[in-house]
Amino acid sequence: MISVSNGLFHLRTEHTSYLMRTTDTGHLVHLSYGAAIHDTTGWELLEEKGAVLSTVPYWDEEHEHLYPGNMLQEYPTPDRGDARPPAIAVEYGSGSLTLDLKVIGSRVMKGKDLSFPAHALPYDSTETLEIELSDRLLPIMVTLRYTVYPECDVILRSARIANGTGNPVIIREAASLSLDIPSDGWKLHSFDGAWARERHENVRPLLPGTVVIDSRLGCSGNEHNPLIYLENERGEVYGFNLIYSGNHRETVSVSPFGRTRVTQGINPFLFSWKLMPGESFETPEAIMTYSGDGIESAAQSFHSFIRTSIVRGFWKDRERPVLINNWEATYFDFTEERLLELADEAAALGIELFVLDDGWFGHRRDDRRGLGDWWPQPERLPDGLEGLSEKIRSRGLLFGIWVEPEMISIDSDLYRQHPDWVIAQPGRDPLPCRHQFVLDLSRTEVREYLFRCLSEVFEKGSVSYVKWDMNRTITDTFSSDSSVRLQGEVQHRYILGLYDLMGRLAEAFPGILFEGCASGGNRYDLGMLCFMPQIWTSDNTDVHDRVGIEEGTLRGYPQSTMGAHVSASPGHQSMRVSRIDSRFAVAAFGVLGYELDLTKLDDEDKEAIKRQICFYKKYRKILQQGRFSSLHVSRNQRFWYSSLGSTAIAVEIQTLNEVHTGRCDRLVYPDAYESKRYRVTAVRESIPGLGMSEEFSVCASGTILRKYGIALAPQFTGNGVSAETRVLGDFGSRMYIIEEEKDEGACIR
Ligand code: DGJ
Repeated sequence: MISVSNGLFHLRTEHTSYLMRTTDTGHLVHLSYGAAIHDTTGWELLEEKGAVLSTVPYWDEEHEHLYPGNMLQEYPTPDRGDARPPAIAVEYGSGSLTLDLKVIGSRVMKGKDLSFPAHALPYDSTETLEIELSDRLLPIMVTLRYTVYPECDVILRSARIANGTGNPVIIREAASLSLDIPSDGWKLHSFDGAWARERHENVRPLLPGTVVIDSRLGCSGNEHNPLIYLENERGEVYGFNLIYSGNHRETVSVSPFGRTRVTQGINPFLFSWKLMPGESFETPEAIMTYSGDGIESAAQSFHSFIRTSIVRGFWKDRERPVLINNWEATYFDFTEERLLELADEAAALGIELFVLDDGWFGHRRDDRRGLGDWWPQPERLPDGLEGLSEKIRSRGLLFGIWVEPEMISIDSDLYRQHPDWVIAQPGRDPLPCRHQFVLDLSRTEVREYLFRCLSEVFEKGSVSYVKWDMNRTITDTFSSDSSVRLQGEVQHRYILGLYDLMGRLAEAFPGILFEGCASGGNRYDLGMLCFMPQIWTSDNTDVHDRVGIEEGTLRGYPQSTMGAHVSASPGHQSMRVSRIDSRFAVAAFGVLGYELDLTKLDDEDKEAIKRQICFYKKYRKILQQGRFSSLHVSRNQRFWYSSLGSTAIAVEIQTLNEVHTGRCDRLVYPDAYESKRYRVTAVRESIPGLGMSEEFSVCASGTILRKYGIALAPQFTGNGVSAETRVLGDFGSRMYIIEEEKDEGACIR
């Protein structure tokens, strides 16, 4: 709900209110963002009071105690008294950046703008407020957009910058969002890492000064995800994320006067955009949420927003198939015969989708060659993609394929033909990475080539699933495309080109399930999720490491977006030994796959996998689409829950083995209703040397479950476990089904 009266703008979601006003100087200032206000009477009390600050400029002689440098600004501009990070920087004339934006109008509309290619979709209840601002001296106009998603407590922000002057101007910075919070003392949560250890949550106290979370990799990156939260001691939380897959930047500044400012948008690093007279520029959209109830509740708002307004198309709400991927089973060493053996085992275990990973095309025998040459190798696939796909499908499996369209190998026919198609500066050798360069996706002919090749692959292979990989970052930024006016435009134009290509393919192949990937999770963001319903979380599938990676990922993105595989033991990244049930327990909280050589497993493991897949299929909707929460019992022990309707699946995770502690955890279920009763059933698991663990099924009141918890048997202690397992350490995990008990009699002994 949006209301505008007497210069007061009020954006309402179910549980939050966002208030702004126009000052009598014409500036747009922020009043508050917090718990829902049903009656705004007395909103004037929220207004900034004048103060006396030395050395700080004030608005004008009539407002000598109102300082732009200390006020809550909606879209702060440079060089007009506010020395905190600005939201915008537009260079005009002979290099001026000074800008003073004042409100010139506003309007409220149903729905929302859809002009940026990666955009959120509106609900029925979605409304947008547009506020027009302009500089008085020269007509540089900014339209601020606020779209309200009442049901999930999310507000979307973006800006359009228009050049109404008679000369070109250069946009140096254009934030999607800027939020001033009238207090300090916040903690910043960011999600950081690198290859194979993506999105680990880091928390730091914010002190005066500016903290920058960003990516300069040409993609949203595995180093710092665009997701951030601010949290204070009262459990108040602000969450932010950006619907964009390129370089992003989040700044969080604490001012000397106790204010906190957050800005988020395209990273100004390597960015500049020339705007000709009459042209305008759209920023990507950013999302924000507020909760008075901790990060988990803010994360749940983001989850429901992403499920309903970011992910789209045929697979949006559909349960995702269980897959087998041949990468860690064979790497580049495969023949069609080997693939079919794997497919036979997969079909027998209940797997639904076979994914052929890297190595099927061009001359690609290893990672040194072949990218760009998107035709099948006759030595490996004698009957082409059609033949292999048919053989896979005749075994009752869907067929899926891996591609890495944005890249070109140095040793490829495509590079020999079109060396000018890569992103590279004239006269300077571009840096190789995995023996490959980046194709210039800002060029129409490059996108046309890829669209043609990929369409043929998808059609010939009757493909149901595509894993879209991207295994390097962008360097040596330069495009020879004639539409590029400044080289600072190239990385943004690359992302726009990528969205164009993915959008066209998604439209041409609406039934295909696309999974984004970038050396694991190097591009896990909301922009990709507008085109691809799921993303490969990380190449690291080690049970211990995955707990941190998945927990960090789930802080901002729902389970249905998170590709999660059971792979071999010892794990190929960590060399850690773990039980197959532990690996499953962690993978089950995402979109499940298997990525190991099934033909080498013993019968015990095969039986375990069969059982896991049956269990997963039965509870897949809950595991993929349920409400996720986690409860940390101790540093080493935690529960994860995914609940939908009256059922929850829980897993008890002990990340490090503690020998002979005899410690019992208690299964506490924080979502239990005290007035209800629940049946808790432990899922059978196999422990090498110990056989099957004890199964139980108990009935418990909501109060017992929520307030006390059920005492569980200690995790395995090492007795009877092989020496190898004990030396390397293992991971204990057990799964539970918690169902509301509707049959009164069932609980009476
Ligand atoms: C990186 C991906 O993350 C892996 O899963 C695999 O597809 C390889 N690329 C193939 O080259």
